[in-house]
Amino acid sequence: DLPNTITLANITHNTDSHTNIPPTLLPYLTRNLHLTPHHPISNTRQIIESLFPASTFARYNTLPPVVTVAQNFDCLGFPQDHVGRSRSDTYYVNKHTVLRTHTSAHQAEKFRTLENEGMEGYLISADVYRRDAIDKSHYPVFHQMEGARLFDRKGKSSGELVDEVLKDLEEMEVPNVEVVESCDLFEDGGNPVQIAKGHSVEEAEAVARHLQRQLELVVSKVFSEAALAVGDVNAAKEKVKVRWVSAYFPFTSPSYELEVLWNGEWLEVLGCGVIRQDLLDYAGRKGSIGWAFGLGIERIAMLMYGIPDIRLFWSADERFKGQFREGVVKRFEAFSKYPQCFKDVAFWVGEERGAGAAGGAGGVEGKGGEFHENDFMELVRGIGGDLVEDVKLIDEFTHPKSGRKSMCYRINYRSLERTLTNEEVDELQAKVRSQLEERMGVQLR
Ligand code: PHE
Repeated sequence: DLPNTITLANITHNTDSHTNIPPTLLPYLTRNLHLTPHHPISNTRQIIESLFPASTFARYNTLPPVVTVAQNFDCLGFPQDHVGRSRSDTYYVNKHTVLRTHTSAHQAEKFRTLENEGMEGYLISADVYRRDAIDKSHYPVFHQMEGARLFDRKGKSSGELVDEVLKDLEEMEVPNVEVVESCDLFEDGGNPVQIAKGHSVEEAEAVARHLQRQLELVVSKVFSEAALAVGDVNAAKEKVKVRWVSAYFPFTSPSYELEVLWNGEWLEVLGCGVIRQDLLDYAGRKGSIGWAFGLGIERIAMLMYGIPDIRLFWSADERFKGQFREGVVKRFEAFSKYPQCFKDVAFWVGEERGAGAAGGAGGVEGKGGEFHENDFMELVRGIGGDLVEDVKLIDEFTHPKSGRKSMCYRINYRSLERTLTNEEVDELQAKVRSQLEERMGVQLR
């Protein structure tokens, strides 16, 4: 029952056994919240962009979301067995084409073209797509901003390059942060490719310092805006507490995550690192060294405006949209909360010996009889859309005799805009139950 082609943003692609994009996702490909005037995602993008001089950092905000597997994974050094490549995590248009899962998919092509444009860096903002859980901070579509900065090292000694990078760092504004904790600049044993054929430790460290300084500036600005938004003028002047944590990305080494202390909690706000030299070389930039970072715009916007639920960004409700103005950060005022409605669904997964046909009815998800939680999440989203607030696994056990696994999920139905009727929720739940049987080949309990 899968059509032979799928049309995404006006371009028609062939489908195949990898295709797993539900029709309900299609309208999101043309929404462009990051370019919608006054929208908090667009405002947040602009605030962050304003911290990077336009003379150095080219802006790319309209790159289309359909990319090749090579762009999204291969060119970035993702190992063949990386979970990110699986059909349960990524939306495949077909075997060779995906909806980008991150803005890093555009790194190589932009590294290649930057030089001709006389630019040393870029900022890319775009919608990205991931199959994921359902809760207040996860949505299958969200927005990322990626930044990169390259330094020319042609005809320079290592010492000259290091001096130049550090001099540029000195000229940056001093960020209003307190670095509470910091991992080593160069991880030992880290990414073996980098260490084997990369740049020297001194060069990597200078670039890493530059990167950290730049991102501390971003965070200090964003979090003082957030404090001002709640009218806390004193907090806005205080130093933001941050920590640098060692991380792993296939395409950077060393790699870090930046965490920020916010309302007593350490929040991870971005990932970054020194670009793997072999990847820069492949992109035709042998003569350069550089850094890159990627951040989730929703995450930052939720903090800055105090937006409690990620679904709100997609709301057409004036009570949401009407609260935001370009150039002003004011805390979001929640409108009334409508009642929640919990429904549980329990089922057996896997074949029961002798039962035969389960899962054979052409359902995309159930193939192979393996249960993937993201397939279930997607099924629920396909039916309930934004009326589902979260889905939690509340019980799981294996039957001692049959060896079959039982799962019980609790679905929380709640609209952001109105009170749902019992009939309406019952109807949604009945659909979830029947599709679970038909498409995922599980047995309801
Ligand atoms: N693309 C990474 C992610 O989505 C973030 C990242 C970007 C990390 C650039 C390092 C450098 O998680």
